[in-house]
Parts: sequence; structure tokens; C-alpha cells
Amino acid sequence: MSKLAQTFPLLIRKSENNKKGAGIQRTPRVVLKDRFPVCCDSIPICVYLKADTHLPILSNRGLIIAIDGPAGSGKSTTARMVAERLGLLHIDTGAMYRALTLKVLEEGVRPGDHEAIARLLETTNVILKQGAMLQQVLLNGRDVTGRIRDADVTRAVSAVSEVRSVREAMVRQQRALGAEGGVVLEGRDIGTVVFPDADLKIFLVASLRTRAARRRAELLRSGVDVQLASLEDDIARRDGLDSRRTESPLVRAPDAIELDTSELTIEEQVDHVVRQAQEILKRREQA
Ligand code: DC
Repeated sequence: MSKLAQTFPLLIRKSENNKKGAGIQRTPRVVLKDRFPVCCDSIPICVYLKADTHLPILSNRGLIIAIDGPAGSGKSTTARMVAERLGLLHIDTGAMYRALTLKVLEEGVRPGDHEAIARLLETTNVILKQGAMLQQVLLNGRDVTGRIRDADVTRAVSAVSEVRSVREAMVRQQRALGAEGGVVLEGRDIGTVVFPDADLKIFLVASLRTRAARRRAELLRSGVDVQLASLEDDIARRDGLDSRRTESPLVRAPDAIELDTSELTIEEQVDHVVRQAQEILKRREQA
């Protein structure tokens, strides 16, 4: 039994092969039941992954897929669908930074007050609850899934995520969550800092216009109408902050595969990543 499985009450059992995962049918499957907790007596900010349903995991394969890229490049949808197709866990690291940012705002702490933010980490608990379609985010037990996408959080998140103590704590948690493999992590620094040895690194890009248009369509679906130009300004500002910060800036890892999604459908971009992962699995089987 792995060290992590000994440490935490993981309920793991072997199951049937997954019909969906083309190219991996002969792989014995491991299903993670109920929970995937990783915690943390002494680590500031506690993050758990909790499975709503039985999630098929390729943890015996240890596959780690890193998907990085700027805001609106399609990371979340791609990561979620790739994870679903391959039977992996999806970890949205942006949601972790967003949940902490919400706490910062609610506690009335200035996003520039690094010391106060470091103290807040000590009492922050985030649960990423994996459902069939949706990843629910709980902040100290409260469902903040929708709230962390609001404009005030989006405006402040870059400032909070450049705080060194925040990055150190988040990266430690993300490494612990992905340590067993069988994961797709998405963010800004997964392939460069969190898992520089990831099996597959994808860097998604798309034109500013496309990214703003996607964001606008998303907002319209929830009944909010924002001008395209204002969304372009917003995204460009966030790109600048995320790329120029000193602590783990948004950059493409030299060995990452860059994929421009401007002209691609979601299915096409997901297919592309899945094919790359299947190649890796095939090569491993042959080795
Ligand atoms: O992916 P997103 O837009 O939900 O991320 C929100 C912010 O969190 C993003 O502007 C920068 C920060 N972030 C980060 O610094 N590192 C990550 N791995 C993920 C997100």
C-alpha cells in the first residue's frame, strides 16, 4: 500500500476496466471510493478533494497531466473533460486561489496586506468536491462554487495569489493532492513549479478577443451582460499581473505542448490532449 493510502483513510478497490478509455482497456482500474482527503495538521490552508460519486482513477499509473494557460484559454472545460475521458481526478487550482481570495475580501483584509493574508491561511479550509459535471467548492464548509467566480473575487485574485506564503501553501497542497498520480491539474504554474516532472504538459492559448467572447457568453448564460471591450481589458490586466509577478509567473514550461484553442471546438482540444495521454500510456505499456 502506498504511503498516502496508509496515512489517509482512502477506500480503494479494484474494478472493471473502463469502457470509455480507449487505449487503456487492459489496464487494471482502481476506483477511489468516497473520499480523497489530503491534509495537513501543520500546513496552512487545508484542502481536501472529496468524491461525490465513485471516481475511476488511474492512480496505479501515476499519470499527471498539467494544463496551464491564461484566463479564458479553455483550461477548466478541457481539464474536466480530459479527466472524465481518461478516468482521472480534476483539480482546478484556480478555485483554491479564488476561495482564499473570497475569504480575504470577506474578512476585510487588503489584498496587498501579505502578513494578514498569511494569518488567514491558518484558518482556511477548502474542499474541492468532485461531482459528475461540476466541481463544488466549499470554503470552511460553505458552498462558494458560484460566488468565487464573481467580479470582485476575479479582480482581487491576482493580487492574493502573488503573496509568497499563499503560493508556498497552495503548491504544497497541490503536490500532496496529486502525489498519487491519476490527476489532471489546471492552473498557471503546474508544469513549471507544482509538477515540473508531469507526464504531459499542455499550455493552452487563445486570442484575447476569443477569450473575452467566451467569458461574455458564459456571463450571458447566467443573465449578466458585460461589454466585450471591458472583458478584454479585464483579461489583459489579469494576464499582465499573472505573467509579470515574481512568484511563479504564468509562463510556458519549455517542454509543454502549446495548443492554440482560438479556432478549435472543445471536442477538438479535448481529443488532442487525450490522444497525447494515450500515446504516453501506450509507450509505458510497451516499455
Ligand atoms: O484559472 P482562474 O482564472 O480561475 O484562476 C484565478 C487566478 O488564480 C488567476 O488569475 C491566477 C491565480 N492562479 C495562480 O496564480 N496559479 C494557479 N496555479 C492557478 C490560478
